[in-house]
This record gives sequence, structure tokens and C-alpha cells, in this order.
Amino acid sequence: MIELHGVTKSVPSGNGTLTILHPLDLTIERGAVAAVTGPSGSGKSTLLGLVAGLDAPTAGRVIIDGVDITTLDEDGLARLRGSRIGFVFQFFHLLPSLTAYENVLVPMEIAGSKDAPARATALLGEVGLSDRGHHYPSQLSGGEQQRVAIARALANDPPLLLADEPTGNLDTATGHAIIELLLGINRVRNTTLVLVTHDPELAARAHVAIALRDGRVVEAVR
Ligand SMILES: Nc1ncnc2c1ncn2[C@@H]1O[C@H](COP(=O)(O)OP(=O)(O)O)[C@@H](O)[C@H]1O
Ligand SMILES: [Mg+2]
Repeated sequence: MIELHGVTKSVPSGNGTLTILHPLDLTIERGAVAAVTGPSGSGKSTLLGLVAGLDAPTAGRVIIDGVDITTLDEDGLARLRGSRIGFVFQFFHLLPSLTAYENVLVPMEIAGSKDAPARATALLGEVGLSDRGHHYPSQLSGGEQQRVAIARALANDPPLLLADEPTGNLDTATGHAIIELLLGINRVRNTTLVLVTHDPELAARAHVAIALRDGRVVEAVR
């Protein structure tokens, strides 16, 4: 379960402060799908970064499965991200010098996982890329690269998957296939899925829909 209590984010700006997120309270149950929507600049990526522990809130607490992650040091946050959180980005962020298989393997090797080769192979199968493991990112389409990125995000079987506009760089049909893959992962693995999307249809299918505007929740439907 994810709980945000009075979370705010401000940054210094000129001789004042710019508030990116106004006080925010939010609960997302284990296994839920939460869709975050809102115009560009409304604070969606900032919110996801706070949940991932990539960024610290100015005030408030972010609690993931009972652990207040705002109390963790950099090592603690790195361990949390390595073991409990998978992240999928708009622009895939694969390592270009590694094959698809090697990209999936990296987080497992960092975590010291024993059966890494077999699990990397299985994950590539799970995202529909069994026969593409030896290809480099430049040899794969955008949709295929995002599938590799999803397999990599699942490398250490995290209970929480965060996706920031995962279809933002894909055509409509490919984007739909990626969304179905993410929703299937949520169903099969019971992975909590928090995703930023511009797709109102997807937001309507989510268990929780959070609409942001200028750093405030304007609508939360559950
Ligand atoms: N580190 C930062 N310093 C200053 N402004 C920032 C910083 N991070 C984000 N912002 C600003 O905060 C607002 C929200 O950004 P972001 O969360 O990326 O929005 P979204 O993902 O919804 O497009 C934007 O106006 C952005 O320019
Ligand atoms: Mg963003």
C-alpha cells in the first residue's frame, strides 16, 4: 500500500519559492491500478518521483508498505528502488550498448540474484520478446524497446510498478498493446501499478484516478 500524508514539493525560485505540489493526501491499495492525469507541468512526474524515492518531499510522509521512505538515507532508498519498485519511462532508457537480454539482467546482477539468466529469459517471454533477447535497442521498434524496459522493471519482482507516460512516445496501436501488457502484469502478478497517462479511457479503467492541475488534485475517483 502507498500512503501520502501532507506531501508537498517546493523549489527555490528567484527570491521566492515555487510550489510544484500543494499538500497532497493519497492512498493506493496493494494491487490497485492508479492513473495520474493532468496537463503538462501539473506535477505528475514530480509525484511519481516522490513515490519512487527519487526525490524527497519538502514536507509530509511517503509510506510504502508501512515504511516511511522519507526517513531512509540514500543507501536505503537505493535498496528500496532496487528491490521493491520498478520504473518505466517514456523514452525507455535502455542501455544502448547492451542487448535486450543484458538490459533485463543488469538489475538482477546488481541485486546478486542467483537464477538471473533463467529469470531474464522468462521475463523476455512474459513481455512477448522470447526471440529478440540478442538484439540491441537500436535494432528494436519503440514498442519492443518499451517491452524490454518493462521486463527490466520486473527484474527483481517488485510489488510496485511506476510508469511515467509509458506510451507517450508510441503510436496509438502500439501504446494500447503496452497498456494491455501493464494491466495484464497487474492482474497476474498483483503488482500495484501507478501510471501517468493522457488516455481518459485508461483513467476510467483504473481503480483510482488522480487528476492534477497546477500541483493540486482536482479530482480523485475511486
Ligand atoms: N527541480 C525543479 N526545479 C524547478 N521547477 C521544477 C523542478 N521539477 C519540476 N519543476 C516544475 O514543476 C512543474 C511540474 O513538473 P512535472 O512534475 O514534471 O510536471 P508533469 O510531469 O505533469 O508535466 C513544472 O512547472 C516544472 O517546470
Ligand atoms: Mg512528466
